[in-house]
Amino acid sequence: MDSKHFISRNSNSPIAFNTKWEAPSNIALIKYWGKTEPQIPKNPSLSFTLSSSVTTTAVTFTPNPGATFSFEFAFEGVLKPDFHPKLNVFFNRIKPYIPWIDSYSLKIESRNSFPHSSGIASSASAMAALSLCLLDMEKTLFPELDPTYFNQKASFLARLGSGSAARSIEGPLCFWGKNSCRKDSSDLYSTPFGPSLNPIFSTYQDSILLVDKGSKQVSSTQGHQLMHNHPFAEKRFIQANQNLSKLVPLMEAGDLEGFIEIVESEALSLHAMMMTSLPYFILMQPQTLSIIQKVWDFRKTTQTPLCFTLDAGANVHLLYPKHTREKVAAFIEAELADFCQNRQYLIDAVGSGAKKV
Ligand code: DP6
Repeated sequence: MDSKHFISRNSNSPIAFNTKWEAPSNIALIKYWGKTEPQIPKNPSLSFTLSSSVTTTAVTFTPNPGATFSFEFAFEGVLKPDFHPKLNVFFNRIKPYIPWIDSYSLKIESRNSFPHSSGIASSASAMAALSLCLLDMEKTLFPELDPTYFNQKASFLARLGSGSAARSIEGPLCFWGKNSCRKDSSDLYSTPFGPSLNPIFSTYQDSILLVDKGSKQVSSTQGHQLMHNHPFAEKRFIQANQNLSKLVPLMEAGDLEGFIEIVESEALSLHAMMMTSLPYFILMQPQTLSIIQKVWDFRKTTQTPLCFTLDAGANVHLLYPKHTREKVAAFIEAELADFCQNRQYLIDAVGSGAKKV
């Protein structure tokens, strides 16, 4: 299937419409790091869809016949013209697929469930929520759209806003990027893991330790660019494919030991790519490393299957099965909270995907 599949018909009779969607954040187990135009990943990735960390976006579509497309954007009740350049890039990329949008003015209102500037990337949940609002409008114009196409196209549009956003439509686990584990996988949109997932992973917990709430010195978009001409890039893309092929059967079997080894290796490999880019950079903080060491000690002494992963920042995601959550909660309070800014951390879990609200 190619991108043409997602080009919609135009509509001659614009209608007033409003809709509101809630889309979750996600945390990658196999990391996407490196891409080519237009937002095509250099390797496949796999992520847990989260449950409580969400963006809620409402869009009001007002018919604007004859005029050109326009929008206004408010975040947490305040108009934010500084978000316009990023949104303009997004709308310019997606317009060929939703030509009907030229007949509308949009009022976009967005808010996050997680604290502002918590260091949690909100672009995935934000782009997914906005894309779902757009697809909802498309379905209203063209009611024949089937649910599979709806989710695929929402993921396709979200990807054009932010790569990882492709994986924020469905749950509990999503692939993005052509891979040898799933015949239906695609570089253009995300696909769910499917029923072969061992049930232990559909209730997995993710506690996000907020080590550094400031904005990053190097954005993900810049980091992806640095994978061009990176001395280890080609090996890294092979490693990600191999790790995915190993991880999928482990997650079907419920093999926690194997899961931990691959997930932690992926997190450290991602940060190794950052440290060996030119210019090189480090997003981890001393507290990140202290937490990792504590997690390893705790796992060894208590035999609890707790592991960590990292996104493109200093915060640490702790992943663990639901039945261990009391033990892990006590461990976080006693030994890890002191490493977090203002002792702040979020408790989240694997979720079932975006929903209309
Ligand atoms: C480290 O999706 O934020 O979180 O496509 O440029 O918007 P853009 O990048 P983004 O990159 C995410 C990188 C990551 C790994 C992952 O989520 O797979």
